[in-house]
Amino acid sequence: MTERAFPDDFVWGAATAAYQVEGAAFEDGKGPSIWDAFCERPGAVWRGQSGAVACDHYHRLASDVALMKSIGLGAYRFSISWARVLPAGTGAVNGKGLDFYDRLVDELLRAGVAPWATLFHWDLPLALQHRGGWLNRDSAGWFADYAAIVAGRLGDRVAAFMTLNEPQVFLGVGLLEGRHAPGLRLGYADYLLGMHNVLRAHGLAVRALRAARGGARVGSALVVNHHVPATASPADLQAARGLALRASGQDPWALTSWLDPMVLGRYPEDMLRDWHGQLPAGFEADLPTIAQPSDFLGINLYYGTVVRAGPDGAPQIVAPAVGDPITSCDWDVVPSIAYWTPRFVHERYGLPIVITENGISVRDWPSLDGRVHDPSRIDYLARHLLEVHRALSDGIPVAGYFHWSLLDNFEWAHGYKHRFGLFHVDYSTQERIAKDSALFYRDVIATGGRSLFERAAQRP
Ligand code: GCO
Repeated sequence: MTERAFPDDFVWGAATAAYQVEGAAFEDGKGPSIWDAFCERPGAVWRGQSGAVACDHYHRLASDVALMKSIGLGAYRFSISWARVLPAGTGAVNGKGLDFYDRLVDELLRAGVAPWATLFHWDLPLALQHRGGWLNRDSAGWFADYAAIVAGRLGDRVAAFMTLNEPQVFLGVGLLEGRHAPGLRLGYADYLLGMHNVLRAHGLAVRALRAARGGARVGSALVVNHHVPATASPADLQAARGLALRASGQDPWALTSWLDPMVLGRYPEDMLRDWHGQLPAGFEADLPTIAQPSDFLGINLYYGTVVRAGPDGAPQIVAPAVGDPITSCDWDVVPSIAYWTPRFVHERYGLPIVITENGISVRDWPSLDGRVHDPSRIDYLARHLLEVHRALSDGIPVAGYFHWSLLDNFEWAHGYKHRFGLFHVDYSTQERIAKDSALFYRDVIATGGRSLFERAAQRP
C-alpha cells in the first residue's frame, strides 16, 4: 500500500439487506417474516409503510448488478431472507427461494463483483417467532440447519459469509424497546437469554458454514457505540478505549458482551458482575461452541461520541458543539470512528476488520437537471475513508469497506423517510439514478483511493 492509496486487495463494496430492498414479500413461496407482520401493526412504521415491495430488487437483480458493475464495485454485501429459503423457518426448503440467491450470486460473479452474504439481517421467519424465536434454545439449531442449506447451495461461490447483522439491534430494539419486530418489551433476563441463544446460533452456524464446500471467509457484522478520544493525550485515549470496551451497567450495546464470547470464549468480567445472576443457568458449557474461529470481524459504523478523561481519569462524554454536523437521522458525524473503532477492536481481538456498513441518511431528491446531488454524502464518504486509510497506515488490518447502502431502501421503523443509497430509488417507478456520490465512489475505487487525496489536497 502506498502512502496515498489503499492495498491492492482492499475490498470496495456496498451493502443492502433482504427485507429492505427485495420486495416480493409474499411471492414464489416465501414465508412471512416478523417484519412482514410488524409492518401491518398500526403505528409501527412511519406512514404505515413496509418492505412488501421496497426496491423490487427481487425482480431487478440483473439491472441492479449492472449498476454495481457500472461503478466498479468489488463486492456486494446482501442478506438472505431465511423465510424465502425456509418458509416455516425449518423443514421444507423453498426451491424458488434458493434459486433467487443462486441467480444473484452467478450474476454477481459474471459482473466481477464478489458475493458477500449475511445469513440473518433481522427478518426472522414468523413461524419461528411463534415457537419462541430467539428465546427458544432450539433457535440455535434452527439457524445452523438454515446455514447448512445456504452454504450447501452457495458456499462454492460466495466469497464471505456473515452469520448475524447487529444482534444488539434485533434483540435490543426488537425485544427490549419494542420499536422493531417482533415489537416486544421484555426485561433484561429475556434479553440475556436471547443473547446467549443468538451467540450459540452464531457458533453452530460457523461450524455449518465451514463444513460446507468452498473456502468462504466467515465472520459477523456487529454495531457498536463508537467512542473517540477528544485529544491524542494518553488520558483521553485510555478514557475512550475504556468506554468502548466496557460491558458494565446492563448495556445491550456493549461490544465486548458479544465479541468476547465469540472470539475469546468468555463473557467479559464486568458484564458477569452486573448481569451474572440473569444469564441462563449452565451458560458456561456453551462457551466453547460459541467461540468458533472467525476470519474477520465486521463492524457497522455510523456515528460516535467524543470522550475525554475527567479529573479522576474517568471517561466523560464531550457534548457536540452547537452546529456540529448531523445526519437526517440526527446522528452525529464523527469520521474518526473509522480509525478508532477498528483500532480498539483489533487491539483486543487481533483479527482483521471489515467495515461492513458505513453511510449517511440524507433527504436527497432529483434536481431540475435530473441528477441527484449529494455533496454531504460525498464528504461523509471521503472523510471516513481517509480515516480508514489512517488506520491502515498505522498497521490496523482493515480488509474492506461496504458503503451503506447501494440503493435507497426501507429504513425499518422509519419506512422510506431516510435515504442512504448511492443510487436514488423512485419508489413509484422503481427508476434508479446514480447520485453524485456513486460517481465519486466509482472514481475512488478506480484509483485505489488515490482520488481521495486529490480531493483533500484541494482544501483551500
Ligand atoms: C443497521 C442495519 C441497516 C440500517 C442502516 C441504517 O445498521 O441498522 O444494518 O439495516 O438500515 O444501518 O440505519
